[in-house]
Amino acid sequence: MADKTYKALLVEETEDKKYVRKLTELSVDSLPPGEVLVKVQYSSLNFKDALSASGNKGVTKQYPHTPGIDAAGVVEESSSPDFKAGEEVIVTSYDLGMNTSGGFGQYIRVPADWVVRRPENLTLRESMVYGTAGFTAALSVYRLTGYGVSPESGDVLVTGGTGGVGSIAVSILSKMGYSVTAVNGIVDETDYLKEIGAKSVISIEEATDTGQRPMLKVRWAGVIDTLGGDILSTAIRSTAPGGGITCCGNVTSPELPITVFPFILRGITLMGIDSQNCPMPLRQKVWDKIADEWKIPWLDRITSETPLTEVSDRIDKMLQGKSRGRTIVRLW
Ligand SMILES: NC(=O)c1ccc[n+]([C@@H]2O[C@H](COP(=O)([O-])OP(=O)(O)OC[C@H]3O[C@@H](n4cnc5c(N)ncnc54)[C@H](OP(=O)(O)O)[C@@H]3O)[C@@H](O)[C@H]2O)c1
Repeated sequence: MADKTYKALLVEETEDKKYVRKLTELSVDSLPPGEVLVKVQYSSLNFKDALSASGNKGVTKQYPHTPGIDAAGVVEESSSPDFKAGEEVIVTSYDLGMNTSGGFGQYIRVPADWVVRRPENLTLRESMVYGTAGFTAALSVYRLTGYGVSPESGDVLVTGGTGGVGSIAVSILSKMGYSVTAVNGIVDETDYLKEIGAKSVISIEEATDTGQRPMLKVRWAGVIDTLGGDILSTAIRSTAPGGGITCCGNVTSPELPITVFPFILRGITLMGIDSQNCPMPLRQKVWDKIADEWKIPWLDRITSETPLTEVSDRIDKMLQGKSRGRTIVRLW
């Protein structure tokens, strides 16, 4: 493998602390150590990649760096007995694309315990339509259903509806028979959200109450939140007694202005979702559900594909809150 090179999107930090992205040729030898070398076929664009690509040190500490927290491809070399050359695999989460060279490069090298064998009913391309965002949506659904919120419990709210996590959460829940309301804000995408299964769509204004009332009129049996801040606070204060809320993101704010009253007077539960450190047995179980009973029939409707050469433009769109659904990145 000596002197073999590959194409990658590299983010560099300039002396005046600006972050520039360029497509470049790198050596496979420069990849970090790890048991499994993967020739990446597809990656996908997640909010975290947009942060990494724009110099967010909470995500990526050292530059130059190749982002891409998702990768799906073929094992090229393996020193692990668990994987052999030619096997199709998925790598998401852990440190991939954060401080380990990620899926916006044609090769990655990672520890074997980050690697998931591709589920039988999912192609590599489909696995990246889900990617970390889809896995997180599925993990949120898993927690909500496991907690006891069923289609009979009442309406479920999904915030950031057109986003990657939101679109897949809306799709899985509606496929399972839930009545889903989506919050949609930046660009009006009501038709799209209804096509992927939302029963109704509400605006950010309708989903936000910045008043001081500790509890609001009950509207939701359950909530999948991606935004944080006042919208999450409003959702919690509008959740029915015994209801459940998952929280995975902070697109609008990391703050949560709330009192304890919805928890102690309505007995609701707030469930944190951390896809990055999800234990491997649960990770495998959720991927199997994604590939099987939760597989979305209208995957194409939420997917757009871009070559590596155009991923930088897509990153800018995502940072402006203007991306829709899932963007997968074709590496070759
Ligand atoms: N905890 C975890 O394991 C985990 C894993 C993956 C992602 N996340 C987090 O989940 C969040 C969503 O990720 P994503 O990949 O779905 O991102 P995304 O594709 O960029 O979607 C975010 C959505 O939020 C809405 N939005 C954007 N800016 C907004 C604003 N200023 N005010 C209100 N709404 C706004 C938009 O939807 P509408 O226009 O429809 O409102 C947008 O499509 C991020 O915070 C990400 O870091 C967490």
